[in-house]
Amino acid sequence: MCGIFGYVGMKDPVAIAIEGLKKLEYRGYDSAGIAGVKDGKIIDCKEVGKVSILESEVNNIKLQLDVSIAHTRWATHGEPSRINAHPHFDTSHSIALVHNGIIENHGELKKYIINQGITFTSETDTEVIAHLISINYEGDIVKAVQKTVPMLQGAYAIALVHKDHPDLIVAVAHESPMVIGVGVDEAFISSDSQAFAPHTREVVFLSNSEIAVVRANKLEVFNLEMKPVEKALEKLLHGSNDSSKGEFEHFTLKEIFEQPQSIKNAYATRFMQEYGTAYFEGLSDNLQELHPIERILILACGTSWHAGCVAAYMIENMARIPVQVEISSEYRYKNPIVEKNTLVIAISQSGETADTIAAVRELKAAKGAKIFSLCNVQGSTLVRESDYTIFLHAGPEIGVCSTKAFTSQIVILSLFSLQLARMRHMNREQGKDFLEELQKLPDHVKKILGNAEHIQKIAKKYAKYENFFFLGRQYMYPTSLEGALKLKEISYINAVGYPAGEMKHGPIALISSDCPTVALCANERTFKKMKSNLLEVKARKGPIIAIIEEGQEEVTEIVDDVIIIPRTIDPLSTVTTTIVTQLLAYYVALERGEEIDQPRNLAKSVTVE
Ligand code: G6P
Repeated sequence: MCGIFGYVGMKDPVAIAIEGLKKLEYRGYDSAGIAGVKDGKIIDCKEVGKVSILESEVNNIKLQLDVSIAHTRWATHGEPSRINAHPHFDTSHSIALVHNGIIENHGELKKYIINQGITFTSETDTEVIAHLISINYEGDIVKAVQKTVPMLQGAYAIALVHKDHPDLIVAVAHESPMVIGVGVDEAFISSDSQAFAPHTREVVFLSNSEIAVVRANKLEVFNLEMKPVEKALEKLLHGSNDSSKGEFEHFTLKEIFEQPQSIKNAYATRFMQEYGTAYFEGLSDNLQELHPIERILILACGTSWHAGCVAAYMIENMARIPVQVEISSEYRYKNPIVEKNTLVIAISQSGETADTIAAVRELKAAKGAKIFSLCNVQGSTLVRESDYTIFLHAGPEIGVCSTKAFTSQIVILSLFSLQLARMRHMNREQGKDFLEELQKLPDHVKKILGNAEHIQKIAKKYAKYENFFFLGRQYMYPTSLEGALKLKEISYINAVGYPAGEMKHGPIALISSDCPTVALCANERTFKKMKSNLLEVKARKGPIIAIIEEGQEEVTEIVDDVIIIPRTIDPLSTVTTTIVTQLLAYYVALERGEEIDQPRNLAKSVTVE
């Protein structure tokens, strides 16, 4: 899994590739490498760790190349090491190749290659591609690639250079993204157009099994029969490029503090106060699309899946439409039953999560389903493959653990639930009330952020514990899953989100003075029941940190520490409560001295299945 970048043109191919790789680190950051052609030879440099380490080394050795390909890695096959870092080479060191994806039949291919007397140097699946191209090479590098591609199974995007062809990069895409940036006497290849957006906004997206031959002033694309393919140049939209930390120590903290604004961006221009309903451009004018809906299927991974779980409660409660929420990687292999009049919603911050994209593709191919998506990144694979997209407008999210994107997803999903509810049985006044509560969220969030010092004190007190429960009921159940995930991701603490009422069916056995519970009490409808569950925890000596709304102070006598948040309606309480759990996770991680923006073993965008 990984990010790929390449440059051919008159500027410095090394500096441009390093700059591009930094923008791709969200796809993995356990090792990085660069290679290219210089004086008829393949030269490379690879390092374990972040792109900044590679950058120091290329500066140190004064690396110079005429054309470059580069890679930032998230290990799938073989540990993060210099040997396993990309680019990979053939035995004669004539070819350097970078790869994003997984070659599923690499085991068989490896046997075939070893039988030709070739020795492997890495543990990766990628190395087979370099050797195969070399075996198939008879002077024409494009033909060698064309002969090799049908031998590969899996999802992959690859880019390569050859020592005898210093003026070009060959790139291939198959179920993994590859975009080519076309500039004036220069060209770029990348997994993500944002990596070269400062240089050019004219792009060509490669489709499955297309082979691109990229030169500084000429782009050719072929199909597997080597027939030229006419590709239209597309223009990238201008996105926000603000990727600095500003006054904050970490991107994660900056993004937590951006939420009063990102929440506003998510609902601004998307509601009609007077009619008490939501308004989505391009959709609300075609409401006939939504009328026949009898069921909703939501697909997502990670934090986006938690947003989907909250949405299921909202849509079922407000619009009375049954909702099924599925983890994309599980759903694909279920032999899914999709009934008529099912609306499919795919949620993804990045729009590049391989499992979600794969599930969407399968649903489109096998069931002819229309896909609605919620996404933060313009031009991403999911956006290009969806029939309709609602953008989060949250701005770039750099911290690996998702914070502001999650609350934006909740806000948009609440508006979508409102729209569906108003089309069915919710009256205008109820709709107006809902919108009033929604517009109070930015102030509520500001107030909670203003209490960060208190939350930090509590975080310091509890940072020594190794096991946590996050408990909640109804809306607070998926909110507890998200709270626990934040703590796991950045503090490396074992934290489990659980429905509070279900504790007595097993997990309560784990409660002791060594295992604190973060009690998410905000859901008014289940507050009394939640209180009883906390008494059960207390009776077993479990320390409790309660996140309560104003007016729920009666629990203070049971619990050890309290964080009070402003009162909102139950469907929106996920937003207010989550700001606290985000801050809690952040300050615990800070106290423990962990790496916060790029936690170990994780990637912001998981581009392999
Ligand atoms: C990774 C990230 C998570 C994210 C998940 C889904 O695991 O670390 O923060 O929630 O992918 O990503 P998506 O871009 O599809 O929302």
